[in-house]
Amino acid sequence: MMNKKQLLALLVGLSLPVYSSALFAKGNQDTINEARNIVKQYAQSLKHELKSALKEKGTVLAIESCHLKAPDVTDDISHSSGWVVRRTSLKVRSLEDAPDKWENAVLQQFERMNKKGIDFDKMEFSDVVIKKDGSRAFRYMKAIPTQKVCLRCHGSNIKSKVASQLDSLYPFDRAVGFKVNDLRGAFSLSKPLK
Ligand code: HEC
Repeated sequence: MMNKKQLLALLVGLSLPVYSSALFAKGNQDTINEARNIVKQYAQSLKHELKSALKEKGTVLAIESCHLKAPDVTDDISHSSGWVVRRTSLKVRSLEDAPDKWENAVLQQFERMNKKGIDFDKMEFSDVVIKKDGSRAFRYMKAIPTQKVCLRCHGSNIKSKVASQLDSLYPFDRAVGFKVNDLRGAFSLSKPLK
């Protein structure tokens, strides 16, 4: 027997391909806007950390910075916003970022959208889900594109010093081999609803 969550995940998985339009948003417009703003702040903080680390320390040491700072930035933004905020991907570096079933289905949909050439800015998805305990949550995801600067640590031509540092910190690293404009992953947000 499937529990509610599994059933829901299945339904989401089955119904997603139907929404071929760029944006499928469910939920209160204010809540969606709130999610969009949090993503903006979160993306800016991460970008700021990455840029300054790359500039000051170079790629190898910047890995350390991503390793330590990215989770910090994530905790800070979750704390200040009151939402659960994270990043996830179909090919993760940190096992902590592995997608759950709902996220996995949305990421698959983003992949299909990317193949169709839909703009990354329009790749977002939201829904109201019912959790196992019967409570409801608003969930939101926004796609993250691969840019040129990302290739140093997520591309297919990674310098050997960088690669060995990544290996030692992330023995299960799957977040390599990306090209510019590949879907790198997504921001994933959720908030309990009353
Ligand atoms: C200096 C190396 C480095 C660069 C450059 C870099 N990353 Fe990462 N990235 C990492 C590391 C290390 C992690 C794992 C962080 C952790 O331990 O939480 C990571 C994790 C991620 C994750 C979370 C999902 C996962 O795989 O665990 C996403 C999404 C991501 N990076 C996107 C990007 C994007 C987009 C860029 C370019 C704008 C980029 N990264 C540039 C090192 C890098």
